[in-house]
Amino acid sequence: MGPIGLVDGRIIDLSEKIVEMEDRGYQFGDGVYEVTRIYNGRPFALRPHIDRLYHSLRGLRIPGVYTFDELAAFHERLIKESGLTSAAVYLQITRGVAPRYHGFPETTVPRLTMSIRPAKTNTELQASGAKAIYVPDERWLRCDIKSINLLGNILAKQAGKEAGAFEAVQVRGRIVTEGSSSNFFLVKDGVLWTHPVNNLILSGITRTLVIEKLAPQLGLPVIEKEFDRSFAFKADEIFLTGTTTEIMPLVLMDGDRVGDGKPGPVTRKLVAAYDELVAQECGSK
Ligand code: PDD
Repeated sequence: MGPIGLVDGRIIDLSEKIVEMEDRGYQFGDGVYEVTRIYNGRPFALRPHIDRLYHSLRGLRIPGVYTFDELAAFHERLIKESGLTSAAVYLQITRGVAPRYHGFPETTVPRLTMSIRPAKTNTELQASGAKAIYVPDERWLRCDIKSINLLGNILAKQAGKEAGAFEAVQVRGRIVTEGSSSNFFLVKDGVLWTHPVNNLILSGITRTLVIEKLAPQLGLPVIEKEFDRSFAFKADEIFLTGTTTEIMPLVLMDGDRVGDGKPGPVTRKLVAAYDELVAQECGSK
């Protein structure tokens, strides 16, 4: 019992060698992925994750071979066979195997691979607040597609890691877009601000939950509008959102203290409301 994989419907050990030399995911990064959090042995927000998977597949014109029910069943099998209750499921679909040539192959048989691994909650860091830095956003112009080609994101994350930061927040031109693997929110005068959904950010599932469920529940107005670093510098609070990040208060942004240097009251309320939402859907957190 522990981390395992699932390839084309078959459970495998993660050490098993399954990647073919000419898989287009391997050679071109030609594929898409999703990460879904498992709490209490149940997937959280699976439906919106699979909807976004179809958006990404359409964006790359990879046929959407698997139905929601099939993918949900694969998640259930991984949970059951791994015995893991607090975990993250990684799901990847590539355009499949073909002799290396940039254009699409004539016939495409997409390859699905999945894995499940234990995941921890971020309770301690949520209580103290985390540190982030700004980095230039060097990614392509279809950040709405959750592509497995993550070079810009990994270079950003590594820069953050080398600076001792939890996350690297990307800036395109003067505009703050999103973290290397999370969305960025700030709180100013009781209002939440975040970058609008377009081709420059990933439409995060956690971001949408904050905007559509948690903020209305707490009576917090949300403005989805571009802003620059100098606006973010004046924020009362800053937080990140993401499936594995959950809601993470930032207390130090590029060396500057955010607010009074502690997680702020709005972010703390959102963290609590998020935990409640998880408990409602998954039984407990
Ligand atoms: N990352 N923006 C980027 C660039 C991301 O990679 C992610 C998620 C998010 C947050 O989206 P969501 O709330 O749907 O997880 C925003 C995943 C977890 C990852 O790459 O592991």
